[in-house]
Amino acid sequence: MPDEDPRAVSVAGLIGNADVEWDDFDSQAYFANNYGTLRWDDAAIIRIIADFFATSLPEKFIGHAIDVGSGTNLYPALTMLPYSSRVTLYERAYTNRTWLHQSLARPQESWLQFWREISGGRRPYARIPSPLRLLADRAEVTKGNVFDLKPNRYDLGTMFFVAESITTRDDEFRRAARLFVDSLVPGAPFAAAFMRNSSGYFVGDIGFPACSVSEDDVREALTPVARRLEIETVDSNDLREGYSGMMVATGRKK
Ligand SMILES: C[S@@+](CC[C@H](N)C(=O)[O-])C[C@H]1O[C@@H](n2cnc3c(N)ncnc32)[C@H](O)[C@@H]1O
Repeated sequence: MPDEDPRAVSVAGLIGNADVEWDDFDSQAYFANNYGTLRWDDAAIIRIIADFFATSLPEKFIGHAIDVGSGTNLYPALTMLPYSSRVTLYERAYTNRTWLHQSLARPQESWLQFWREISGGRRPYARIPSPLRLLADRAEVTKGNVFDLKPNRYDLGTMFFVAESITTRDDEFRRAARLFVDSLVPGAPFAAAFMRNSSGYFVGDIGFPACSVSEDDVREALTPVARRLEIETVDSNDLREGYSGMMVATGRKK
């Protein structure tokens, strides 16, 4: 099929993470579509994970956090901010690492909406006066591949819409989810978000692969490495075509 658009294959067929040109990821388009304003599904996720971190960690806890596959999303990192002296933003795409550097230096206004949702009624967050400045001080944008993560390195972690949104392969979805949790020290709390039943997605006019997963798939992927695992489903259907809700998993590394 010499004339077939490889992008069509990447969305419809079986394609692994290494088959995708991640440096073509259009950061501006992705940010504008997803995080230019606070959506109610993200607000629901924020309530789950900010409550989770605030109840799982002592107020004085401070460690090294990681957010895997940050893309153009600063809110997972912001939910770890009170508990982190360093926040590694671990990202494969050059375009997204550039976006992260620029946005940490000059954050978009929408992040203040996200911060209001994170900090409202939660003391460890509410007592931070300049969260985006503090994040810029503590964040380290790092070139990295989830499949290269080493075990037992970080004290808390997040990974949002990555394991199921970087491949169509079930085995890669499971490996990415497990390597993320395994990169934390034993007992470390984590939060991970997943698109439910995703059939792939466009960023600008470029298609990216996804692995269609359910709550059972997330549970099966994480059970070998996690304890006190909780999975909540968040209603969402108007971000784009081809998914049915979002899922948030919280727990601790075994
Ligand atoms: C769907 S986006 C999610 C971005 C962001 N975490 C969010 O919540 O919107 C998937 C992200 O994973 C990154 N990515 C793709 N393959 C990766 C890999 N092997 N290791 C780490 N990040 C990867 C992409 O560059 C992109 O930023």
